[in-house]
Amino acid sequence: MCVAQTRQDELLTLLQNPATGNPLAFEGDAMIDTVTSERFAVRNGIPVILRKDDVFGWNRTQQRNYDLFSLVYDLIYTFNVWNVQQWLDEIAGIMEVESGDRVLETSVGTGQQIRNLYEHGVEGRFFGNDITYGQLNKCRKNIGKWGIDVGLVQGNAEALPFNDELFDVVFHIGSINVFNDKRTAIHEMIRVAKPGANLYVADESVKFKEQSTFFGPLMPEPEPGVYDPPIGLIPDGMFDVTTRDLWDGKFWMVSFRKP
Ligand SMILES: C[S@@+](CC[C@H](N)C(=O)[O-])C[C@H]1O[C@@H](n2cnc3c(N)ncnc32)[C@H](O)[C@@H]1O
Repeated sequence: MCVAQTRQDELLTLLQNPATGNPLAFEGDAMIDTVTSERFAVRNGIPVILRKDDVFGWNRTQQRNYDLFSLVYDLIYTFNVWNVQQWLDEIAGIMEVESGDRVLETSVGTGQQIRNLYEHGVEGRFFGNDITYGQLNKCRKNIGKWGIDVGLVQGNAEALPFNDELFDVVFHIGSINVFNDKRTAIHEMIRVAKPGANLYVADESVKFKEQSTFFGPLMPEPEPGVYDPPIGLIPDGMFDVTTRDLWDGKFWMVSFRKP
């Protein structure tokens, strides 16, 4: 009898130890670095490819906040707060995904962007990473409820736990403004993308902070440029680099193609 491979099974074959670049193999109840034998736990089926010391600065603050926020995060989507559906429709309208493409969302959160693509008829093979276990665990439950097969891993977007050149589409929505190191996060997205892959990066503009009476005060004070599209961080040689406004200017998106 042939047992269908799930996206999570497939994900386990795609992982590397970000610190060494060595492949990881699933053994018993853990992921093991095939050269150094370093062990990474697997929690509720989700590999945790993070060392404690790897999470510091803004990434640690984000992780703490989102572990709490995961309890209510989906209400924004359920109740279409601020007409978030307009933004979701715009994102799905822009992203180019072929049927069967391997699609990675870095900072997948509770899976709402993947649900959105799926509901817009996108037939990708979906994968997601996030630094926050609370968000991923909510995502795991959501995808079960929604009937979407997604491979999930806990890891830092600045040190993705994936081998090189695996994905046809790589995207990130909603966190890069406050990453410790935006340039490295973009380089990581490019590293794991196949040649010819489409990449999309989006986050809040300063207009979102100024207009949002609830979230605005919680967002960091804008140092110069923090809420600007990181166009200067896209390496030379990428094709079709394009910047767009989304959601009446409350978000920006930068898209490009890997040569
Ligand atoms: C605003 S939510 C966006 C989630 C999802 N992309 C969406 O649009 O609904 C931001 C997410 O980024 C994650 N995050 C923050 N810093 C991260 C990092 N360095 N690496 C990976 N994920 C990170 C948070 O845990 C959180 O789930």
